[in-house]
Amino acid sequence: MKTKQRIVQAVENIERAAKFIREGNVVAFPTETVYGLGASAFDARAVARIFELKARPRFDPLIVHIASLTEVESLAASIPRAARKLAEQFWPGPLTLVLPKHPIVPDIVTAGLPSVAIRQPDHPVALALIRAAGVPIAAPSANQFGRTSPTTAAHVDEQFGEQLELILDGGSCRVGVESTIVSFVEPTPVLLRPGGVPLEDIEAAIGSVAVQTSDGDRPLAPGQLPSHYAPRTPLRLLHASDSPQLAGQRVGLLSFRRPLNSAGLTAVEILSEEGDLCEAAANLFAAIRRLDAQRLDLIVAESVPETGLGRAIMDRLRRASVVATFVDHTAAP
Ligand code: TXA
Ligand code: MG
Repeated sequence: MKTKQRIVQAVENIERAAKFIREGNVVAFPTETVYGLGASAFDARAVARIFELKARPRFDPLIVHIASLTEVESLAASIPRAARKLAEQFWPGPLTLVLPKHPIVPDIVTAGLPSVAIRQPDHPVALALIRAAGVPIAAPSANQFGRTSPTTAAHVDEQFGEQLELILDGGSCRVGVESTIVSFVEPTPVLLRPGGVPLEDIEAAIGSVAVQTSDGDRPLAPGQLPSHYAPRTPLRLLHASDSPQLAGQRVGLLSFRRPLNSAGLTAVEILSEEGDLCEAAANLFAAIRRLDAQRLDLIVAESVPETGLGRAIMDRLRRASVVATFVDHTAAP
């Protein structure tokens, strides 16, 4: 029997996907950061299906994707001046703003929080899909909860297989790490997640931003769990003075630049020969996936400089490298 084609060329299938979304279904689509798993933000049942597909805890809210800045007015109860400035400067782009929520946004989207995360992606397919659907699209990254984010349509298909009916293929994601999230819920802005827009650029626009730090195993913001983005193979972050323990083991190296010595390693992935952090970010998740497919005992990852996109890369590597069981937030204290 012929298997149904799930991955389709994005450009020719926008209308079909938009109709699918309007009818209450879930569609995977490309953005400039990573692929998203989208449904109408106004359809609580369709959004519930996203949580189910991802096995995502209900306390972890979703980002609402819009096609123009003016749509913020109907989703947020208020927009602080600094937030508007960031939107004007970085949208469309890899930046998410957390703002006080308008009652029109269903509680399931925001996990019952009084705030909503909003972003205008910088990808022609994502923008065309939102416009054609005629509704904002709620979408997390299109991976199983806690796993590596997808940067190609094939990555999405590997994770969900027949569970997902439609994947719009728009090629590889240009940025490769998720959006930067800045919250405007407190009186001063807070960076909740480093991402595609460097912190330096945000601070150049609006002045200093507090950086959220995790207090051990309980995240301050929902979803910012210490263990995330994890490959199945254990991943260890190397510091400058370390050398990987190789004895009798199949070890893969995730190298920032070309490694000086790769003797004894089973596999090597180079993020950027030139040491370019943007190129490294774009290659990060696909490289982790390729190493994860090689039946290694261990992946060791080199640290990268924590400037520009390096901050987002190191954040993902740290979370991918924590070998911890998920904290059960539903358990009684
Ligand atoms: O680049 C991206 O942001 C991608 C693409 C698809 O747009 N999306 C993405 O979504 O990374 P997700 O669900 O994987 O990560 C969204 C993060 C989660 O950590 C969630 O907890 C946080 O955003 N978030 C969403 N709403 C929030 C809110 N109201 N307050 C605080 N954090 C929020
Ligand atoms: Mg995610």
